Amino acid sequence: MVLAGKRILLIISGGIAAYKSLDLIRRLRERGASVRPVMTAGAQQFITPLAVGALAADHVFTDLFSRQDEQDVGHIRLARDCDLVLIAPATADLLAKMANGLADDLASTILLATDRPVLAAPAMNPKMWAHAATKRNVEMLRGDGIAFVGPMKGEMAESGETGTGRMAEPFEIVAAVEMRLHDGAKPLAGKKAIITSGPTHEPIDPVRYIANRSSGRQGHAIASALAALGADVTLVSGPVTIPDPAGMHVIHVERADDMRDAVLAALPADIAVMVAAVADWKVASASDQKIKKHPGESLPTLALTENPDILKTVGHHTQRPKLVIGFAAETQDVESNARAKLERKGADIIVANDVSPATGIMGGTRNRVKIIRHDGVEQWPDLDKDDVAVRLAALIAEQFKQG
Ligand SMILES: Cc1cc2nc3c(=O)[nH]c(=O)nc-3n(C[C@H](O)[C@H](O)[C@H](O)COP(=O)(O)O)c2cc1C
Repeated sequence: MVLAGKRILLIISGGIAAYKSLDLIRRLRERGASVRPVMTAGAQQFITPLAVGALAADHVFTDLFSRQDEQDVGHIRLARDCDLVLIAPATADLLAKMANGLADDLASTILLATDRPVLAAPAMNPKMWAHAATKRNVEMLRGDGIAFVGPMKGEMAESGETGTGRMAEPFEIVAAVEMRLHDGAKPLAGKKAIITSGPTHEPIDPVRYIANRSSGRQGHAIASALAALGADVTLVSGPVTIPDPAGMHVIHVERADDMRDAVLAALPADIAVMVAAVADWKVASASDQKIKKHPGESLPTLALTENPDILKTVGHHTQRPKLVIGFAAETQDVESNARAKLERKGADIIVANDVSPATGIMGGTRNRVKIIRHDGVEQWPDLDKDDVAVRLAALIAEQFKQG
């Protein structure tokens, strides 16, 4: 477990994103960390200390002037008896207090008294984040050595406005915590990774195409997780409706041929993770004009031809990346098909998943994968696709650590 034995003091302040802190606590504990929660009065307007305490399995500290808490632990010890102070969500108000050294409640007092690293995950309305005062405060805090994760672009929970201000997702915060606790070193710094993601669209004519149900969620999440570990990521994305992840070079393609060209142009690289659901076939000669319907005449037939095998091309390339990982979406004999694919494609790892309709994996948000290597198989539990991504990125980092 990546965070085994690590003690995190989690300060929750009063933003709408506080509900995500519950998931964050669960994820931190799943990775072996202990979480000691502190809530501002504002935070308690959004979620209850009961829920936070139950998930953290610890007492929730809320009051600076609690005689009992002061006797039991004391605010100075709270501030120091941890490996990291994490603020999620961090409100504009709390950032302003920190920047100015105010200490008028338990959270701000701890933040002034601590000598531990501090990581903040701001969350606020985009106008608040863009305000000159917040910008000034964040600038000052960065100068004071406070680290930040997010905020991200996206739609705000309460107002529906879009812009920068959404709190980083819990899995992104966990990745930032891991990085911070491992001496701030990014284990994949200096490594170049190429990721493919999403489906391909193979044209039949100018308005029709052959596609598949891939959403790009898994590939995009892997690209983000690798970027979070410091990799220089090129994401080659088929047509998807999800936004481009931040902090990487994104190339948009439609057809398998374009995807292959983009991947080869991005070589050399250290890591290739081929997640895209590339169409096996394309129409042999797509029509330049829309194919018309002629009532009474025979139906048009589509002659298919094979698409390039991108994984195999990369796996046998003269500039083959050190680590080549492919995905196998199967609906039957998942493990034996994936094992055959491992050999045939020249890959180091195949991540196999059962995409039978009943699993809901294709196009869904969760995934249950098997990691198939030349020397063994590992079944991972049913996980959020973001968590599969974080785990896979950690596995890749481990691989490079071993040399
Ligand atoms: C419905 C609602 C949602 C809010 N969401 C946020 C938010 O996301 N970020 C933020 O900085 N402030 C937000 N606020 C304002 C803070 O709650 C307010 O500034 C409060 O004083 C923060 O206290 P704290 O920093 O001590 O927790 C929100 C207020 C309301 C009423």
